[in-house]
Amino acid sequence: MSSVLNVKLNKKPCYEIMFEKSFQALGPAVKELGFAGTKCCIITDSSVGPLYAEKVTNQLKKAFKEVYTYTFEAGEENKNLDVVRDALKFLVEHKFNRKDVIAAVGGGVVGDLAGFTASLYMRGIDFIQIPTTLLACVDSSVGGKTGVDFDGYKNMIGAFKMPRLVYINTSTLKSLTARQYYSGMGEVLKYGLIMDGAFYEWILENMYGIFDLKADILGEMIERCCELKARVVEQDPFETGLRRTLNFGHTIGHAIEKYKNFELMHGECVALGSVCAAYISWKKGMLDMEDFYEIRDMFVPFNLPITITDIDPNDIIELVKSDKKATDKGVSFCLLKKVGKAVISDDVTEQEMLDAIGQIHFTEDDAKE
Ligand SMILES: NC(=O)c1ccc[n+]([C@@H]2O[C@H](COP(=O)([O-])OP(=O)(O)OC[C@H]3O[C@@H](n4cnc5c(N)ncnc54)[C@H](O)[C@@H]3O)[C@@H](O)[C@H]2O)c1
Ligand SMILES: [Zn+2]
Repeated sequence: MSSVLNVKLNKKPCYEIMFEKSFQALGPAVKELGFAGTKCCIITDSSVGPLYAEKVTNQLKKAFKEVYTYTFEAGEENKNLDVVRDALKFLVEHKFNRKDVIAAVGGGVVGDLAGFTASLYMRGIDFIQIPTTLLACVDSSVGGKTGVDFDGYKNMIGAFKMPRLVYINTSTLKSLTARQYYSGMGEVLKYGLIMDGAFYEWILENMYGIFDLKADILGEMIERCCELKARVVEQDPFETGLRRTLNFGHTIGHAIEKYKNFELMHGECVALGSVCAAYISWKKGMLDMEDFYEIRDMFVPFNLPITITDIDPNDIIELVKSDKKATDKGVSFCLLKKVGKAVISDDVTEQEMLDAIGQIHFTEDDAKE
C-alpha cells in the first residue's frame, strides 16, 4: 500500500501524509526531516500509550537524540487547559528548547491537545501527527486545527498549527473498540455526502470490507478522505469559506455532544447532526425525500445512531446558538444540494432546526406506537 500525499499551504508544499501498514517507515521518514541532535516528546493518552508508545519510541530514536513520553488520562474531558499546562511543565522540566519536537500518538483528543501544546511552547515548536483512530486518520490529523475544550465548549481555545508530517499506520486501528472505529465512519460518510458522490457510492459498495477492516479497503478509504480534506484545507486553510462545508452535521452534532456531556462519541453526534442537516435540506427543497431517507438509513449499518432519547430540543437549540461558530447574523449551516454537493446557508430558522431535531428525537410516545 505505502503511499504519500503532499499537502500544500499557500500553494507551496507544507507536509506529507504517509499511508502505511506498520511503524517500520516512521524512523527513516522522520530522520529525513532533519531533527538530528534534538529531542522529541511523545504525547499520548493512557489507552494508546501502553499499546504503541514503545514501538513509536524505538522508531523515533532513529531520528532524535532523546525520546520522552508524556501520558495523560484518556477521554474528551481531559482535552483541557489543565492538561496542556501539565504537558508544558513536562517540556520545561525536561529542558525542551525551540528546536525540539512533539509527536502526537493517539486519537483526535491527543492530536488536538498535543498540536496546541506545540503551538504554545516557546511560541511554537514542530510537531508530528501519528493518528491511531479512524477519526483522527481521516479528519483531525489533517489540516492543522488544534485546540482544547473550555468551560464545556468544544474546541473553544486553539490555534492553527500545521504538522511537519502525518504518519498513518492503519494496523493500529485493529485495537479500537467497534464503537470507536465506527465513530470515525461518521466523518468518512460526511466527505462523500458533501463533496464526492462517487466516493459515497464506493463506501456503500465496500461496506463489508470496511466492517472487516480489510487492509486494502481501509487504506483506500483513508487515503481518499485525506485527499478530500487536503483539497478543502489547501483552498481555505483558515476557514473563511469552503472549509465550513466540513462542518456538515456538526452544527447540531456539537450541541448534542455537549448536551450529553460527551457520553456519545464525536462521530455518533456527527451522524445525528447529519440526519438533521439532510432533513433541513429536504425541507428547503434541495434534496428529494428519497435522498433524505437513504442518507439517514445509511448510518445504521455503520452502527451510527439516527435517533436519540432524553433530550430537550429547545436546550439543543440554545446550545447551537451559543456555539462559537454562531454569529450575530445567526447560525451557519452546511446543507446538501445533492449527495456529493454541499452549500452553506445562513437562513435556517429555529423552527426548521426544531423540526429536524424532532426527526431524530425518540420519545416515550414513539415507543408506545
Ligand atoms: N482538529 C480537527 O480538525 C478535528 C476534527 C475532527 C475531530 N476533532 C476532535 O477529535 C476528537 C475525537 O477524536 P477520537 O474520536 O479519535 O477520540 P479519542 O482521541 O478520545 O479516542 C477515542 C478513544 O480511543 C482510544 N484509542 C485511540 N486509539 C486507539 C487504538 N488504536 N487502540 C485502542 N484504543 C485507542 C483513546 O484512548 C480514547 O479512549 C474530538 O475532541 C474532536 O473535537 C478534531
Ligand atoms: Zn468532526
